[in-house]
Amino acid sequence: MKKILHIIATPRGEESRTLKVSEAFLAGFKARNPDYAVEELDLSNEKLPALTAKRVDGKYILLGGKDMPPEFQAAWKEIAAHINRFLSADKYLLSSPMWNFSIPYMLKHYIDVIVQPKYLFRYTENGAQGLATGKKMAVITSRGGEYGPGTPAHSYDFQEPYLRTVFGFVGITDIVFINAEPMDASGAQVQADKIKEAQSEARELAKGF
Ligand SMILES: Cc1cc2nc3c(=O)[nH]c(=O)nc-3n(C[C@H](O)[C@H](O)[C@H](O)COP(=O)(O)O)c2cc1C
Repeated sequence: MKKILHIIATPRGEESRTLKVSEAFLAGFKARNPDYAVEELDLSNEKLPALTAKRVDGKYILLGGKDMPPEFQAAWKEIAAHINRFLSADKYLLSSPMWNFSIPYMLKHYIDVIVQPKYLFRYTENGAQGLATGKKMAVITSRGGEYGPGTPAHSYDFQEPYLRTVFGFVGITDIVFINAEPMDASGAQVQADKIKEAQSEARELAKGF
């Protein structure tokens, strides 16, 4: 069975505005893709491995083009398990609020765990090459303020450009964003209207995803 991995980077569960939009996407996606399993990775409830000196040393061994020596394999077991889980998906839905103009720390931690040489990218004579190819990703975000093109705070958005860059680097270039905003800056009515707007965009996106 094919798989869409839903990576959740908000701890707010039922209160989450981001997840309200993601649920609309998933309802549409499931209806059209009965051959897909939806797997959830809730990063707030996941004990991600710390990037200790030993684990980082392992990364440098791989960067040097060598295989992981046996004495590193125990330390790397959890990292390899997360990478394999990530790579086992055909498609991704990433749900993330904006935190301090970028992504929540648990998502950054996850990215630091999985973006590893030999697994997700490699260096070639022609530069870096992403290895997670042939996959697509939908990113649903919500933000307290407004950051779209033409808004005064557009250049403060380090969330969408960062996610496009890091997932593009590993080979996921088919990536589409729905940003629900502003959630906090313009009051409850605007928030409700913008969630509805983003939900209908999400339903539309799910049709062809
Ligand atoms: C720790 C933290 C940092 C935040 N930083 C920003 C920010 O830099 N810019 C912004 O517009 N909103 C910021 N917000 C507001 C959230 O992005 C906004 O409320 C969002 O809708 C929350 O999504 P959720 O309900 O799915 O968790 C922040 C919220 C939290 C909790």
